[in-house]
Amino acid sequence: MLYSPKKLFLFFFSCIVLIVNYNNNGFVTAANSIGLNYGLLGDNLPSPSNVINLYKSIDITKIRIFDPNTEVLNALRGHRDIAVTVGVRDQDLAALAASEEDVKGWFATNIEPYLSDVNISFITVGNEVIPGPIGSQVLPVMQSLTNLVKSRNLPISISTVVAMWNLEQSYPPSAGMFTSQAREQLVPVLKLLSQTSTPILVNIYPYFPYASDPVSIPFDYATFNTEAIGTRWTIGLFKHV
Ligand SMILES: *[C@@H]1O[C@H](CO)[C@@H](O)[C@H](O)[C@H]1NC(C)=O
Repeated sequence: MLYSPKKLFLFFFSCIVLIVNYNNNGFVTAANSIGLNYGLLGDNLPSPSNVINLYKSIDITKIRIFDPNTEVLNALRGHRDIAVTVGVRDQDLAALAASEEDVKGWFATNIEPYLSDVNISFITVGNEVIPGPIGSQVLPVMQSLTNLVKSRNLPISISTVVAMWNLEQSYPPSAGMFTSQAREQLVPVLKLLSQTSTPILVNIYPYFPYASDPVSIPFDYATFNTEAIGTRWTIGLFKHV
């Protein structure tokens, strides 16, 4: 993959992760942080340390990696100002869902070695697997990891990542809502998240709606400049519950 400036631009605007909080009524209240996904599928990729320096140079303080990549985690050592979200790979969910001991082993191998000098703030269980055939494996793994970080008193939030297509409507943000199909697997997860006051993550791509209809969708929507468009990224999670 070549990194033309145009491609880099698209990369940044298409890989924003929205971390959403919701209040007790089940309504998402605010998009309180914007981070960048650090995808590693491609060739001719810049080295992890170059990527991290690039993120720092544009004041990105949150990074999400899709799996516990040792090269990236090692490059992040000492950069404690960057809050890191580490994903549990989808293909590991089945084994981990079946055994709390395996979850402890996963943590000991993939997270523990970095705790002293990497600011791991989130572990996400699965990427866009809810709703779906392996979606039901998310909750038991989240529960085991939640138990583990709680018993160790670690400041790590356990969550999952859902796809934008779970939003029945995404524009304007204030009218956004999840689909009824997502409900069965999503609601038990949201109950656990509300017990631990942890946000859910949604992969959203506001650049694409903007690009397809730049006349009626404001550029500020694509860049989260919510004050300018007089609305907030608000999603009524329980409208269909
Ligand atoms: C680590 O990340 C958290 C966000 O999860 C942030 O509040 C904290 O300031 C970061 N630590 C440092 C040393 O910057």
